[in-house]
Amino acid sequence: MDKHRLNRLITAEEITSIVKNLADQISRDYNGRELILVCILKGAFMFLSDLVRQLKIPVQIDFVRLASYRAGMETSRMIEITKDIETPVEGKDVLIIEDIIDSGHTLQFLKDRLALSNPRSVKICALLDKKARREVEIEADYVGKEVENVFIVGYGIDFNETYRDLPEIYYVTPNEQQKS
Ligand code: IMP
Ligand code: MG
Repeated sequence: MDKHRLNRLITAEEITSIVKNLADQISRDYNGRELILVCILKGAFMFLSDLVRQLKIPVQIDFVRLASYRAGMETSRMIEITKDIETPVEGKDVLIIEDIIDSGHTLQFLKDRLALSNPRSVKICALLDKKARREVEIEADYVGKEVENVFIVGYGIDFNETYRDLPEIYYVTPNEQQKS
């Protein structure tokens, strides 16, 4: 018997419409600009790949991978870049592509870090937002959907490296809480 139950939260159809909607807004807002999408690995890979296929403007794509550790006090975090971007961003418009915002530490770190390279702008596009969990003041400029404080998997998002491959989005509950 599995230890976890996956409860479907967002269907493939709804994901398609969320992504299309974000792509339309981004295409409008960055029309005529030199846009670089910076995708945070690994969780945002599927979102990025669907998003770029819906965009109506040319973009460059790069990837960053971050590791985060709980350090000392509850709210303090150590964040480290384990794979940096390779594209020069000076004078360019940068849009960070993230799967989920939770405490906000990851995005705050990356946004500040990218700003050091003097881009024309740095904004954030997050597929999902757990707004109630925020520990630092940071907001995404584009949000696909707000979600409750539940543990999300699927569509690129993992639980200990599993479930990234699922085409839909689920939340995980312990199996003993299974109702019917
Ligand atoms: P933050 O720095 O606390 O905002 O953490 C954001 C990162 O934590 C995201 O990029 C995800 O990789 C991960 N994360 C946050 N919530 C979930 C979740 O519900 N499921 C899986 N990963 C999550
Ligand atoms: Mg992530």
